Amino acid sequence: MRRNKRNVSKQRHLIAFYKPKSTTAEQYRTIRSNVDFSAVDSDLKTIMLTSSGPGEGKSTTAANLAVVMAQQGKKVLLIDADLRKPTMQYTFRVSNTEGLTTMLTKQTAFEDTIKKTEVDNLFIMTSGPIPPNPAELLSSVVMESFIKHALT
Ligand SMILES: Nc1ncnc2c1ncn2[C@@H]1O[C@H](COP(=O)(O)OP(=O)(O)OP(=O)(O)O)[C@@H](O)[C@H]1O
Ligand SMILES: [Mg+2]
Repeated sequence: MRRNKRNVSKQRHLIAFYKPKSTTAEQYRTIRSNVDFSAVDSDLKTIMLTSSGPGEGKSTTAANLAVVMAQQGKKVLLIDADLRKPTMQYTFRVSNTEGLTTMLTKQTAFEDTIKKTEVDNLFIMTSGPIPPNPAELLSSVVMESFIKHALT
């Protein structure tokens, strides 16, 4: 019973994948179209999702938007850079022993830190273990060069 409940909640996070015909999934595709239109004159490669307060839907939106973008045939890398409350490892049911933090501190190589998902074209990098200095890590030069490297 408990196990079932947990599975249902995981699926809800990725509704764009599990229920692509739902009206909710359609809303994520609408966001995708709006992003595409807003970037019609530019070669948009990176999108950052954030919000002003906790629990406003950042993680849910990021995961589902990544799904619908991958479904469009684009190669997508979803990076969980929330070093306070990371959740992508739960949504995609992967381990989080390696991730953004281990890569930025050079404990793991870029290629080894990325995980495939069950969604075609969608790859994820989870946060990795939470460090004591998240802000410094995210504003580091290594982070900047990582983003550039990911785009190549
Ligand atoms: N569009 C939505 N409508 C209703 N509920 C939503 C929506 N998006 C997310 N939720 C629900 O709101 C809760 C918080 O969502 P989520 O974890 O994505 O937010 P968050 O901004 O990442 O939170 P945190 O600040 O803790 O990282 C979850 O229970 C999620 O299922
Ligand atoms: Mg979140």
